[in-house]
Amino acid sequence: MSRFEVRKAVIPAAGMGTRFLPATKASPKEMLPLVDKPLIQYAVEEAVASGIEDIIIITGRGKRAIEDHFDRSVELEEILKGSGKAHLLSQMRHISSLANFCYVRQTEALGLGHAVLCAQRLIGDEPFAVMLGDEIIDAPVPGLAQLIHAYKKRHGAILGVQEVPHQDVNRYGIVSSRTIAAGLHRVEDLVEKPAPEEAPSNLAVIGRYVLPPEIFSILRKTRPGKNGEIQLTDALRELAKKSPMHALEVQGQRYDAGDKLGFLIATVEFALNNPSLGPAFGDYLQNRIRPSGGRRTTRARKG
Ligand code: UTP
Repeated sequence: MSRFEVRKAVIPAAGMGTRFLPATKASPKEMLPLVDKPLIQYAVEEAVASGIEDIIIITGRGKRAIEDHFDRSVELEEILKGSGKAHLLSQMRHISSLANFCYVRQTEALGLGHAVLCAQRLIGDEPFAVMLGDEIIDAPVPGLAQLIHAYKKRHGAILGVQEVPHQDVNRYGIVSSRTIAAGLHRVEDLVEKPAPEEAPSNLAVIGRYVLPPEIFSILRKTRPGKNGEIQLTDALRELAKKSPMHALEVQGQRYDAGDKLGFLIATVEFALNNPSLGPAFGDYLQNRIRPSGGRRTTRARKG
């Protein structure tokens, strides 16, 4: 194996999901369904399509449903087999065979940086990916695959970025960088959630990273920053001082599904693109938003 092979991905899923309360009071945000699949399954599928074999999910209290989702459900399989639902049965089995899953419990939500640090023993001394499960990237070439491709050429940390409207920079980690090729930037510094007038650019980090194992020793020394949390951004700033770091503009449509409005937008888009639901849902939407005079219809529920 080349030492630049990226085989493992960490999906931190131990956050509190406060932007989505009360839905996330007793259920993990990562299990919110986007049409018919939980958010975290989209991230896992993107990882697998990018060549990842081992997936390390950082969980916390109240997140058991995530483990159950990627495990086999023998009773359900028996029922589906008995009722001749072969297609659903193979879909259910496929979920548990997507990758090798490992779980690490973050006992306290001490921040994204701390969550990544929890994976250190399972990652060891190799490069790895970090994926935030509530960022959905819909792209012909999976978002993470784009980063891994860049990593194989550049070998330092690669951050996935996209341009965001200037007034929205205060919701993201923003990079200060210099462009070195189309869509590729050398990172000089990062700022977490800057005020628009202080932002060095409008290139926002979008929840996809390929990182070298050196990040762990930096994370261990990182003090709590904004909100008293150990911030991954603070550790990345230190790493950028020591070794080359690049930001790659990820090609594809990104949705912030950890936010209520972003989640609704993603739901509409994925539903419209769904082959079995799209046409009927599109008709419904057109009917629903027709200017005054248009009649609204309600689809009858099947009884
Ligand atoms: P966010 O801040 O977006 O997620 O963290 P959150 O804390 O769950 O949600 P809000 O902001 O309160 O609504 C980014 C990612 O890092 C994980 C979260 O699960 C999310 O996927 N995270 C965050 C952890 O795993 N542990 C933490 O201590 C903090």
